[in-house]
Amino acid sequence: MSKLLRLPGLIDIHVHLRDPGQTLKEDFFTGTSAALAGGVTTVFDMPNNSEPIFSYNKLIEKMKIVSQKAVCDFGLYFGTDGRNIAEFSKVQKLVVGLKIYLNLTTGKYLVDDEKMVDKVFQAWQKDKMIVVHAEGDKIDLAIDLCRKYKNKLHITHIATRSDLEKIMDAKLLKLNITCDVTPHHLFLTEKDLPYLDGFGVVKPSLASQSDADFLWDNLKYIDCIATDHAPHTLEEKKSFDSPSGMPGLETMLPLLMTAVKQKRLVLADIIRLTNTNPQKIFGFKQDKETYVEIDAYEEYEIKKENLFTKCGWSSFQGRKVKGKVKNVFIRGTKVLSDGKLLVSPGFGQNILP
Ligand code: NCD
Ligand code: ZN
Repeated sequence: MSKLLRLPGLIDIHVHLRDPGQTLKEDFFTGTSAALAGGVTTVFDMPNNSEPIFSYNKLIEKMKIVSQKAVCDFGLYFGTDGRNIAEFSKVQKLVVGLKIYLNLTTGKYLVDDEKMVDKVFQAWQKDKMIVVHAEGDKIDLAIDLCRKYKNKLHITHIATRSDLEKIMDAKLLKLNITCDVTPHHLFLTEKDLPYLDGFGVVKPSLASQSDADFLWDNLKYIDCIATDHAPHTLEEKKSFDSPSGMPGLETMLPLLMTAVKQKRLVLADIIRLTNTNPQKIFGFKQDKETYVEIDAYEEYEIKKENLFTKCGWSSFQGRKVKGKVKNVFIRGTKVLSDGKLLVSPGFGQNILP
């Protein structure tokens, strides 16, 4: 066997593990197992559950469930519809940040009224992250509010040249603004839609080749890569009305390792984008004994049969990749080896004390 390459465990700051509420699609055990299979040792879970996490009570309920089921480490986001500002002071210490949807997505969590968005930015603790789903003009709105109230702002899943350019401009103004891109916006484009069909439906939509090229060419302005792991059932994705979202936890690292082989990026980029920056931006420290061992030379094909995610499909089905996760360690304990999970539900810990 060739010598294994050691990388710090990946931190994915944007996943939807659907628990509680839609555990037919995923749950905290299957979702965090998928994370480990993909070399991801920490996930930050989004609040758009079927009953959204808009109250202290809902957050506590979810926290109990995740603590019992997770096999990797985790953090949770709080959500807002603009009407739950009274809850903010109770939850801020318990979550990694606040998520707000300025564009429509899965579920009905859009905050459309700009006055309400203003109140949210004003009320949320200034040294805690606000993560926004914002495209086009809504990015300008988020940046203006960040400037007005001095928030810590993270714009997630940037997919186009014009949206990244807005963030590059804002960074020049020395605002506290960061952003991420997803693997699917780097490795898929609208040219893949004819064969992907419903499996290519995602928010933001897959963009053009020149958009994807622009993201690749400007990786230095991008702070993180995050999967936006958003599983739906096979039946739903095959239907005429495919809901937006695709899983990504198990395919991010092999895709990135393959890109290293193709000299599209270097290992140091992967570490910066999936490990050091997430810690720096969200203000926490990962244990030194949390890491992943990869066979950088092993080639394999992404097959749905081999996935841990409950949804059982991947938009990267059939893709040949080079770089296989062999062993995963969390806080010194071997948690996964050769595709076998070695720990029980509840092993994973909240990254917040
Ligand atoms: C996400 C989901 O299904 O929860 N869907 C998606 O297309 N990305 C929601 C989101 O992240 O906007
Ligand atoms: Zn998402």
